Parts: sequence; structure tokens; C-alpha cells
Amino acid sequence: MRLGVLCSGGDSPGMNAAIRGAVLRGVDVHGFEMVGFIDGWRGFVEGEAIPLDRPAVRGISPLGGVILGTSRVPPFESRAGTPAEWALFRERMARHGLDGFLLIGGNGTQTVSALIAGQGIPVIGLPKTIDNDLSATDYTFGFDTAVSIAAEAIDRLRTTGESHRRCMVLEVMGRDVGWIALHAGMAGGAQVTLIPEFPETIEHVAEWVASVRDRGRSSLVVVAEGFTLAGQDAPVTRGGVDGFGRARLGGIAEVLAPLIEERTGIETRATVLGHVQRGGSPTAFDRVLATRTGIAAADAALAGQWGTMAALRGDRIEMVPLAEAVNRLKTVPGERYAEVRLNFG
Ligand code: F6P
Repeated sequence: MRLGVLCSGGDSPGMNAAIRGAVLRGVDVHGFEMVGFIDGWRGFVEGEAIPLDRPAVRGISPLGGVILGTSRVPPFESRAGTPAEWALFRERMARHGLDGFLLIGGNGTQTVSALIAGQGIPVIGLPKTIDNDLSATDYTFGFDTAVSIAAEAIDRLRTTGESHRRCMVLEVMGRDVGWIALHAGMAGGAQVTLIPEFPETIEHVAEWVASVRDRGRSSLVVVAEGFTLAGQDAPVTRGGVDGFGRARLGGIAEVLAPLIEERTGIETRATVLGHVQRGGSPTAFDRVLATRTGIAAADAALAGQWGTMAALRGDRIEMVPLAEAVNRLKTVPGERYAEVRLNFG
């Protein structure tokens, strides 16, 4: 069997470990041939690929980024693929001698995986995203690393904030869901955690910050980039769109900081953590999760479990239908938000 491996969407710490896991099991144990396409679908379309064998994946688990590169280039122009585009897709597969795909990606990518599976083309999804917003899996690799980096940023902002008696606002990623903010906020004891799922009013935010000051402390506010103030119809954007045509988010911390300062009289500073969250070496948890995901994907290919995704369920990796993963976003439930809200103010 010859499998094409590719990464699509934003990178996520652990992608290299996932490739290594798939190759160690797929090539060394099951005797597959594997090729990795460079920069996602671009490499598939333009025929740029490298052989994936044991030497190619030696020592890559601790490395950040991904050896293959990733992009948001789609495999075809139309949303769901026209008959002509699918014909070309199959022709390209034949040209590369492929029997199937292992697709490493988040929501957008696994939606494409589901479309491919819908055409009867063999594909298995490996879920990655720092946002942790894919359904059907408990955690996606990359999330733990992003949370650790965000929690460390909170710890650091807290000491400088306390020294100057300032309110510090930290913006983290999370375009549709607030998992990074939720976990980092809880780990770092943020006094306010603002996430897309639960809009809050600026009056409430200011009250919480003022009450922290009244107790003689300085506030740390963590906000997910996709958060909207109650009454605001859309998240703050930076202008422009990404490769999937989605608005580029960012800037809510800079919107909130002056509003907090104006209402409380407390000097307030905004920090946008940005891509620092996605860079660098993955945590041990992410390396282990990603490696096991790769191994499970190779086993699923051998077993012919196409149209599935390798999901973490408790401490087991289980193959679940792709449709289950992409049908809806995994949002933060009310009871989890209630837990961090206990620390507000
Ligand atoms: O989708 C993952 C994510 O980390 C989002 O939280 C964020 O909006 C986006 O990627 C930013 O990615 P880029 O700047 O690379 O397009």
C-alpha cells in the first residue's frame, strides 16, 4: 500500500511526532510505502513530495513546526469539488501511485477529508489544532503546548502587572472556541477569562477588575481572539482573510484595555500572544498523543478503516467516523465556564 501524508491548515505542535508514529508503524511494521507532500495540497497538486521512511523521521518528535510544511491551499477551487475537479484529483492520485491518504489537520482539513471519503477515496484523518475545537476527540495535539505557553505568559504578565498595580490583558488564539483561554486562565488563576462562547458586558469586566483592585491585587484578564462583548456582532479582525477565506482575527485585547482603563481608572496593558503559541517544541503530552495518533492511523489503514479519524477517547485512541468530527465545533460547555467564573473578580 502506498499512502500520501499531508498537513493542512495552521501548524500545531506535535505534527512531526504524528508523522513519525505513522511511519514507524506503517512503513516498518506494515510494509507500506509513504510519501509526504510539501506544503499540504500544494505539494499534491504540483507534484512536490518526499519519501517518508525511517531515516526521514529520525529525531523529529521534539521539533516544532512540521518537516513537510503546511498551508491552507485547498485541493480544488470549488467548495465541494466539481465532477471535473474530482476526476483531476483521482488522476493526480494515480500519478503519485497512491492508494490513500493520511490527512493531518483541524476542522477545515477534516471537512475536506470527509468530502474525499464521500467520494469513496481512502482517507484517514489525524486531528491537530491548538484550538481543540474538533468534535469526537477529547483533545487534539498542539492544544497542550499552546496552553502551557499561554499559562507561562500569564505567570510572567502577573509579576510585572503586580509590580505596577496594572491590569494586564492577554489575548490568546481561539477563533470560534475558548479552550486555550479557559485552560490557561484556570492554570494561571486569571481573574477574568473571556471566551467566544460566552459574551460578557464591559461593565461586568470592569466590575471584576475593580473588585480585584479593592482587594489589593492586580487583575489578569485572558481573552480568546474570537470573544465578543455582549451586543458586539462580530469578533475584532485585523483585516484580510486566511487561505480558507476566513477573516483574520485579532485585536480584542487592544480594544478591551482602554475600555477597562476608562471605567476603572486602573492603568491597563494589552499583550497579544499570537503565533508564539504555535511555535517551538511540543510538550511531552502532545508528543505522546501525536505519536499514538500516527500509529493508530497506520493500523486503521491496514485494517481498511477508511473515512475515519483517530480520536482520543479517555486514554484510548479510537477510530471514529469523520462525519462525527466535523459536523459541529466542540465548544466550551457552560459547566466548564462556570468553573473558571468562580475566580472572576
Ligand atoms: O485555527 C488555528 C488558529 O490557531 C486560530 O486560533 C487562529 O485564528 C489561526 O490559527 C491563525 O492562524 P494564521 O495566522 O496562521 O492564519
